Amino acid sequence: MKLILLGPPGAGKGTQAQILATKLGVPTISTGDILRAAVKNGTPVGLEAKGYMDRGELVPDAVVIGVFLDRISQDDCKHGYIFDGMPRNLAQAQELDRQGIQIDTALSIEISDAEIEKRLTGRRVCPDCAATFHVESDPPQKDDVCDRCDSVLIIRVDDEAETVKQRLAVYHAETEPLKDYYKGQGKLITVQNINGIEETTAAVLKALGI
Ligand code: AP5
Repeated sequence: MKLILLGPPGAGKGTQAQILATKLGVPTISTGDILRAAVKNGTPVGLEAKGYMDRGELVPDAVVIGVFLDRISQDDCKHGYIFDGMPRNLAQAQELDRQGIQIDTALSIEISDAEIEKRLTGRRVCPDCAATFHVESDPPQKDDVCDRCDSVLIIRVDDEAETVKQRLAVYHAETEPLKDYYKGQGKLITVQNINGIEETTAAVLKALGI
């Protein structure tokens, strides 16, 4: 399975990627998680990316493509992968094609902007293992503590309301046109994000024919 997950911020790409990765035994490559780890570790990539991420803008293509190519050259990507957050614009999609990176399907998770604003207000993430929770729809077993690694959960800096609006604007201008790009290649599938993670997973698996 070589899958791209498309969709606006908060559409549930990371949530579905975690579930699919476990089910299919392939790694999730999340450029957002890679960049957040770089910011946390204060690496040169992190120092360059931080301002863009905090403002809800895209990190420059050269920076993102560099870390992405480095990650997918690793052995665990030989037999498949799920891309979460890559590509994010036409230039990145064309670069994947130029590099000969094969994709079976681009799955777009569809959800309204109004619903996204509600979802992101309640999101909590683990700063250490990147697990994602929601205070109502997917709460951790202990309040504000990661089920996987016991770290204290945090609210992402870019989940602040004004930044979410900026991220949505960037999505509609730069990422949404990729649906036409992959439709043109005969690889696009769309799924509605239903209220409820398990219900959405069922719709995703059905759409993928799994
Ligand atoms: P990134 O981390 O990729 O953020 P994003 O695309 O904005 O997506 P999110 O992680 O916010 O949302 P999601 O769709 O994964 O939703 P989630 O599953 O968490 O990127 C962050 C930044 O990094 C970018 O702004 C940019 O600066 C930079 N960047 C990254 N990649 C880049 C690239 N390629 N080029 C340039 N810059 C790049 O779900 C949201 C919440 O809803 C959770 O709390 C979840 O529990 C809940 N939920 C999910 N599904 C359901 C459901 N069905 N019912 C109820 N609740 C649900």
